[in-house]
Amino acid sequence: MQAALVQEVPAAASLDLQALVADPAAADPASAVCRDQLGRPLRDLRLSVIDRCNFRCTYCMPKERFGRDYPFLSPEQRLSDAELLRIVRAFVSLGVEKVRLTGGEPLLRKGIESLVEAIAAMRTLDGGQVEVAMTTNGSLLARKARSLRDAGLGRVTVSLDSLDDPVFRAMNDVDFPVGRVLEGIEAACAVGLAPVKVNCVVECGTNDAQVLPLVEHFRGSDVTLRFIEYMDVEGPSAWSQSRVVPSGEIRGMVERAHALLPVARRDGETASNYMLADGSLKLGFISSVSHPFCGDCTRARVSVDGRLHLCLFATSSVDLRPHLGADRPAEAAAQAVRQAWQARGDRYSELRAARLASGKRQYPTVRMSLVGG
Ligand SMILES: C[S@@+](CC[C@H](N)C(=O)[O-])C[C@H]1O[C@@H](n2cnc3c(N)ncnc32)[C@H](O)[C@@H]1O
Ligand code: SF4
Repeated sequence: MQAALVQEVPAAASLDLQALVADPAAADPASAVCRDQLGRPLRDLRLSVIDRCNFRCTYCMPKERFGRDYPFLSPEQRLSDAELLRIVRAFVSLGVEKVRLTGGEPLLRKGIESLVEAIAAMRTLDGGQVEVAMTTNGSLLARKARSLRDAGLGRVTVSLDSLDDPVFRAMNDVDFPVGRVLEGIEAACAVGLAPVKVNCVVECGTNDAQVLPLVEHFRGSDVTLRFIEYMDVEGPSAWSQSRVVPSGEIRGMVERAHALLPVARRDGETASNYMLADGSLKLGFISSVSHPFCGDCTRARVSVDGRLHLCLFATSSVDLRPHLGADRPAEAAAQAVRQAWQARGDRYSELRAARLASGKRQYPTVRMSLVGG
């Protein structure tokens, strides 16, 4: 374990967060739900709060690429808390009701609880509470679950690729023990960050033998277990189609041991949902490679350098930073986001899958740890 990697990273600037929380609906009462060219409403914001991570998952930030000399963003290059809140307010004024904080590893951002608290204090267009969720590797969750819940975090998704300690340590590549992540998951369940979701990226020959042990481990708990296909992202040179275990195969592994019942997918949800027929576990399968589906994508992403990405695999992004200064009107960022979303007509995931099927691999990949998965 590289102890130095687990320190909290300071935000670019400290500030009185509550002073920045205004009612976005009041700021722009005329705004309606924003739709793109394909009629997709903007509903969710995935906000990356840091590009650093204390893990070096081989499928995301392999050490050979993200070594000690990797040019991570400096504190000045990362959005400050004030800028992040301006962004969230802009999205909420456009109808967004759910904000997911991600990274890198979001729990490495210093003052993350204050950020959660300020977002949770915002109101949606119809006066409800903005839902704040987080995706984390769980390494710091055991000690932070309660303070995050108290700050207003509603839900948490924890990445966990193996229950087998040597396999887990090899996949995070910093020798981090699986037991500490399991403690984090238990702490999250205990304080009511529910439903806790557990994400497992399945890589052929590395952790596919872990599918059933994970199912058995979480049976009878409140955890929803989701299996994700290994995607071709920027960094891991080891990716190849042969290392992807298609969701159909993963589901088959589970079905050979347990009967499954399909469960309806909610709007904008990425997973195909099932439950064990005895009701003891909810399962999701995310088929980003074998069955990408762009038709009901309601999600925008903002990376911590202030760029708006309309898709994980978008070929371009919009710089929101010029609209975030204290001298800019409050609606400036919202206008920029609205303009970009309304012009959106992309289906990147479907198109790149078609290229892949035809044997071509010249499509853009994404730096997952910057854009946030
Ligand atoms: C980039 S991480 C950021 C949040 C946090 N560090 C974590 O791991 O949960 C967000 C999600 O992206 C997933 N991910 C990263 N690289 C991936 C890849 N090559 N294929 C599929 N999922 C990937 C991770 O498993 C994780 O669930
Ligand atoms: S998947 Fe998450 S924990 Fe793993 S290297 Fe990427 S950002 Fe870090």
